Amino acid sequence: MEVTVAKTAGFCFGVKRAVDMVYDQVKKNQNKQIYTYGPIIHNAEVVKDMQSKGVQVIHSEEELRGISDGVVIIRSHGLPRRIHDILDEKGMVCVDATCPFVKKIHIIVQKESDKGRHIVIIGDDTHPEVEGIKGWANGPVTVIQSAEDAKKFPSNYEKGLCIVSQTTFHYKKFKELVEIISKKRYDIIVLNTICNATKERQVEAKSISEDVEAMIVIGDKHSSNTQKLFEICKKACKDTYYIQTLDDLDLNQLGSVETVGITAGASTPNNIIEEVQSNVRINF
Ligand code: F3S
Repeated sequence: MEVTVAKTAGFCFGVKRAVDMVYDQVKKNQNKQIYTYGPIIHNAEVVKDMQSKGVQVIHSEEELRGISDGVVIIRSHGLPRRIHDILDEKGMVCVDATCPFVKKIHIIVQKESDKGRHIVIIGDDTHPEVEGIKGWANGPVTVIQSAEDAKKFPSNYEKGLCIVSQTTFHYKKFKELVEIISKKRYDIIVLNTICNATKERQVEAKSISEDVEAMIVIGDKHSSNTQKLFEICKKACKDTYYIQTLDDLDLNQLGSVETVGITAGASTPNNIIEEVQSNVRINF
């Protein structure tokens, strides 16, 4: 049995930075309540560990309004500007763990919508990162996720457009959607804001899954970048399994394969990857 673990598997720069910031605040502020606005990253295991150290998750604006003391850490996916404004109004200590690559998109969106451009976000409208990006526009915003959405986008729009992407979006699909929109002849700026960490993981996952008989993708079910890794691997290797932790892995499913590949989303902690990889190695 040959096991290949992707070199890019696990925490990306932005996730590591956000997780470190939470543990750092826990250490520095033993007498204060530490909150994260929304789960700090899309990984239930990490969030559970933080909760065991007293960190509480704020789930809504209403909940935030009811809090008057403590430290609020902004999640790696970022938040709409109105939440930052509430934190300012309340004078609460705010630690911004928004990934700098996401922050960059907030700045672009704010600047270009101030200039009067209509903002188009290529991404998933229900994802918290997109929710946050939308909240930095001072004018019209449209989220486009599919070719259908792009075709439906009005062609008689008078304003110029600024197109950005959710950081975890698939590059080929981004290009395809931009092409559909561009044919409608707008004054248009296109900024490819897809994060390299995502692309690197996708390229490596594709290449490993093409060479193995079975592939294991580890990550939280809500992690968009893990879901995309799964889709990519599944296309190349039909025996691809999506697991959150070792408990979800049925080693019997792997049957008599001789080569297994392992990759993990950008919010999957190393200890989970290690555990899965050593179990696969021991059992075969
Ligand atoms: Fe940031 Fe890219 Fe990770 S946007 S959170 S470094 S996937």
